[in-house]
Amino acid sequence: MLTVKDLHKSYQVGKATYEVLKGVSLTVEKGEFVAVMGPSGSGKTTLLNCISCYIPIDSGEITLGEKQLADLSEDALAKVRNRQLGFVFQDFLLLDGLTVRENILLPAIIGGAVTSQTEARADQLCDVFGITAIRDKYPAEISGGEKQRCAVARALINHPLLILADEPTGNLDSKSSRAVIRSFEQARDALEATIFMVTHDSFAASFCDRVVILRDGVVWRTLARGDTERSAFQDELLDAIRDMGKE
Ligand SMILES: Nc1ncnc2c1ncn2[C@@H]1O[C@H](COP(=O)(O)OP(=O)(O)O)[C@@H](O)[C@H]1O
Ligand SMILES: [Mg+2]
Repeated sequence: MLTVKDLHKSYQVGKATYEVLKGVSLTVEKGEFVAVMGPSGSGKTTLLNCISCYIPIDSGEITLGEKQLADLSEDALAKVRNRQLGFVFQDFLLLDGLTVRENILLPAIIGGAVTSQTEARADQLCDVFGITAIRDKYPAEISGGEKQRCAVARALINHPLLILADEPTGNLDSKSSRAVIRSFEQARDALEATIFMVTHDSFAASFCDRVVILRDGVVWRTLARGDTERSAFQDELLDAIRDMGKE
């Protein structure tokens, strides 16, 4: 589904060059819910922005579905962003002047046509994420957790290949975080969505199928959850983060 191979990315600040990603390689399989963890400044957002085609990469390969992103023109990349990727951000990014339902339909509106099928899809997503009762409300009238579930629904409206989420629970209390993570699990289980989530929160990451930990610009360790119970997996993650501090 998603393959990142030996990805390098540096930023130029004045005359200095800072290499942030120094050969990151990872894969995400279809239907997987994968988290990326790592200390602040370790390049998590940079990695996500490279996969989103928002910033150019120095070297390496990113393959989404069958397509190598480096081979695509600006137009083709814009299509990938709009049709094959869904985005969820820390601060929701809902439009205040639109209702929940209209916000969910927005990528379809931008993409060209809202058909009765897309409207039915929006209603199905509201149903899956438990926001049907508030679908005619405006963002100012709903809670943070509801806003983020609306954002998850919006990310799914165009049947994307991959959902990219950057700290989606960063601005939420633990109960709302749980509801948002549940919406990702439901997206995976009921809609076969593939999710790639950046987080520094071990609680959020402990619900994932696999957790990739970045350090010093490379993948330091990958932990698969398997049949491990959630809280035990969270302990494993916390242990790994503690080990990382010691090395
Ligand atoms: N546009 C930019 N120009 C220069 N440096 C940047 C830019 N964006 C991020 N950085 C630097 O790259 C490093 C990684 O940032 P980031 O990817 O945001 O990390 P994370 O999301 O893991 O906290 C940080 O040291 C940050 O200051
Ligand atoms: Mg970040």
